[in-house]
Amino acid sequence: MNGTIFVTGGAGFIGSNFVVHTLTETDLSVVNLDALTYAANPMNLQTVARSPRYTFVQGSIGDRDLVARLLDSHAPVAVVNFAAESHVDRSILAPEAFVDTNVTGTFRLLDEVRQWWSSRCPPAIRASFRFLHVSTDEVYGSLSPHDEAFSESSPYAPNSPYAASKAAADHFVRSFHRTYGVPAITTNCSNNFGPLQHPEKLIPLMILHGVRGKPLPVYGDGLNVRDWLYVADHCRALLRVLADGRLGETYNIGGGAERANVDVVHDICDLLDTMRPRADGRSHRAQIEFVPDRPGHDRRYAVNTARMRDELGWEPRESFASALDKTVRWYLENDAWIEQATRAGYDDWVRANYGLRGRTP
Ligand code: NAD
Ligand code: TYD
Repeated sequence: MNGTIFVTGGAGFIGSNFVVHTLTETDLSVVNLDALTYAANPMNLQTVARSPRYTFVQGSIGDRDLVARLLDSHAPVAVVNFAAESHVDRSILAPEAFVDTNVTGTFRLLDEVRQWWSSRCPPAIRASFRFLHVSTDEVYGSLSPHDEAFSESSPYAPNSPYAASKAAADHFVRSFHRTYGVPAITTNCSNNFGPLQHPEKLIPLMILHGVRGKPLPVYGDGLNVRDWLYVADHCRALLRVLADGRLGETYNIGGGAERANVDVVHDICDLLDTMRPRADGRSHRAQIEFVPDRPGHDRRYAVNTARMRDELGWEPRESFASALDKTVRWYLENDAWIEQATRAGYDDWVRANYGLRGRTP
């Protein structure tokens, strides 16, 4: 693939990892449209900010005029849509932003792409252009312990407002392919972790609270299971889908690393005990606090990635243990990044989220 890709939400966690990965590993140029919400961190892109192959534009995927202008001026070979409100807990406290960005925003982006692709796109690009929509396994709902992992034909059954908004967006993408022929592909990925993830999410939150001596809030009985994927493996998967994925298809991406939350938290505590021992000599596990459960908390996610493996030759490279070790190390070495990520309203958010559980932090 050559040319420019138009990335949305590329200042957030996965998007910025993807932008840096793409500029490092390929000859593609990147235009990054990001609204810079609380979840974005401009420091994520420091290493590429001066690259002649990188352009940043602050704005919303819901701004039709801006999207149309960017499509006309950059004539991208692909659009990769990461932009979203992404945190389940926030979707429980304040769901409307999830409809605005994930549903309406994605719809408008898609509709502008449709109009550009069908009438204004240069012919040399038109035949190979693709719209890659980055979605989640959470659209499939919740598994019981003995259920088979989600496959691409699992029925949609979203349970949180976040998952519902992503499901709605996925359906619009599908419909734009079937109705208008927009060359679209959707990926549904499991929980990511790694450098640059906002500390509202489980793994970075536990690392940060661990070193700060704060409580480590485990929801419910801690036995909810997630299938963890290291973010660099997700970036490689997305490039494979962009290059060779079949139009109109969906691809499930996952790490094959199912873990109960409490086991993940124990692993983090054990790593911190070695890398940053507590002054009192006790284990960080002493900070674990079981708190009232998240409403509608999905019990288990697991992803069957046979299609990614068999069609595109993709498999995760990182083991959960080595990736967690790298991740904890990264957070311990990047105080300035954490300072920036937690500057605007992080403590207020933690208080509000605890409030939802009838607790004060
Ligand atoms: P994130 O919250 O870290 O980043 C989202 C980015 O989107 C931010 O930079 C934000 O400023 C930007 N944004 C928000 N609203 C926007 C708008 N209206 N216009 C333009 N930009 C906007 O999210 P993430 O964890 O990096 O997730 C990226 C995508 O991957 C999301 O679509 C999410 O649903 C999906 N996904 C995430 C995971 C995960 O584990 N994090 C797993 C599977 C799928
Ligand atoms: P999260 O990182 O919010 O991702 P998602 O809800 O999209 O899976 O949470 C991962 C799991 O960890 C989920 O089962 C909820 C749980 N969790 C906690 O137990 N405590 C926390 O403080 C957070 C943020 C999450």
